[in-house]
Amino acid sequence: ASIAFVVPAAGVGARMQANKPKQYIQLGNKTVLEHTIDKLNTTIPNALIIVAISEDDAYFPELDLPSNVITVLGGKERADSVLNALNYLTINHVVDWVLVHDAARPLVLPNDILKLISTCQSNQCGGILASKVRDTIKQGSHFVDATVPRETLWQAQTPQMFLLNELTSALTNALNAHVAITDEASAIEWAGGKVQLIESRADNIKLTTPDDIAIAEFLIAKQTL
Ligand code: CTP
Ligand code: MG
Repeated sequence: ASIAFVVPAAGVGARMQANKPKQYIQLGNKTVLEHTIDKLNTTIPNALIIVAISEDDAYFPELDLPSNVITVLGGKERADSVLNALNYLTINHVVDWVLVHDAARPLVLPNDILKLISTCQSNQCGGILASKVRDTIKQGSHFVDATVPRETLWQAQTPQMFLLNELTSALTNALNAHVAITDEASAIEWAGGKVQLIESRADNIKLTTPDDIAIAEFLIAKQTL
């Protein structure tokens, strides 16, 4: 069964407050997006990698990327960017499974992606990388209303792996119904589908705010030793 990667990279990175979108920030010897694509290409050499970028992106053409990377135009929200890539795949390629992975998650390890792939394929069921919540979780506004038992709480990461046709219809229908979609799994859940939780490293963080950069620099240097 053939597998393709989809990388949403059309965001502006407002919370990062950098002088360019966060996927183009330098992390050691290459940009965030180059690291991310390296990880996917190491996981499955030469697999199709569809990257959604924004229309006026002046940084992407400067990157040093392998020839199996193809671009599509991104959309208004992350889900629109992902859907554009899925529609492109459906029209132009024969693909069974798709793994959607944030451009802004360069720290993912190929071994964790391989674990996701083998679990989804052997159970014939979609799934996501996620890490168990570590802290004690409080609910409330100014005062604590409750302590939420964390035994069944997970932090969703990417990649998120689903059958291309199932994810395309779930995302299309969820967007048409104006459901709030922050990841692929939430569209599948809304459509009534099953999503497996595959435990991943907690340091597969999404670079979001300025303080994430120093952490990512440290971790990426350690990974390539
Ligand atoms: N993304 C996208 N298309 C959009 C919005 C986001 O492809 N319309 C991508 C981002 O480039 C990022 C991933 O989705 O790789 C996760 O989104 P997020 O972390 O929210 O990135 P940004 O939207 O760029 O950041 P911010 O919300 O701080 O502006
Ligand atoms: Mg965003």
